[in-house]
Amino acid sequence: MKINPCKNNVGAIIDTDLKNFTKETIGLIKDSVNEYGVIFLKNQKLAPRDYINFAKQFGQLADYPMLKGLENFPEITVVEKKPGEKIMFGEGWHTDSTYTKKPPMLTMLYSVKTPPKGKGNTRFASQYLSYENLDEEYKNKIKDLKAEFSADGPISKTRNNRTAEKGTGIDPKSLKAEHNIVRLNKINGKKSLYLSPGHVTKIIGVNLKESSEILDYLFKHQIKSEFIYSFEWEPNCMAIWNNHAVLHNPVNDFDEHRVMYRITIQ
Ligand SMILES: [Fe+2]
Repeated sequence: MKINPCKNNVGAIIDTDLKNFTKETIGLIKDSVNEYGVIFLKNQKLAPRDYINFAKQFGQLADYPMLKGLENFPEITVVEKKPGEKIMFGEGWHTDSTYTKKPPMLTMLYSVKTPPKGKGNTRFASQYLSYENLDEEYKNKIKDLKAEFSADGPISKTRNNRTAEKGTGIDPKSLKAEHNIVRLNKINGKKSLYLSPGHVTKIIGVNLKESSEILDYLFKHQIKSEFIYSFEWEPNCMAIWNNHAVLHNPVNDFDEHRVMYRITIQ
């Protein structure tokens, strides 16, 4: 199995066939996701059943509270932008479902239909690097802080086209959670920043002025260009990322139909 780190050491491209995985491949993929934050695999021909079977090797599959899944395969959420639509689902920097009490650790995204190569990329920002590059004083200041994450945060409007079609009827205002903004990956000892402009509404336990100062600073810091890798999709690619280690942001620069199948894992 070949592992080639991407630009800025954010993400790695792995060469293996996911349909015929072995225990060893799964172990190496888990290690690589922890190390690089995100990994990419190209030329994977996976039917929904194969995809679910592969995903189950990583843990319990999570429900996505806001949308119903793919017909006959409720574990798969269809992430789609249709021709003529202006808004793209999930546009803006975020990590997935952080407004739940126990957000999914891993996300898998498999490309079914993509715009021409170089359009509709997904950008990933390493939050290992963003934490590492804070100065010591700032690290100290934020080490015990928690933030409030809401499903009704700024990114929620990008969901409206899809919830109109296959929403579950859950009111996004009812989904809120508090999490530490610095996380420790117990497997490799790396710390990461865990917050995003998409879902975070405030820092807990400080006044509003201080909360917005901290958020303004960190939101800008965590997406500096030296922490980012932009993945170019083509059909049959798989990305697997650790939601504690990277933020992601799909680029809305195309009009073609884009269809991705997503599975999240606890
Ligand atoms: Fe997302």
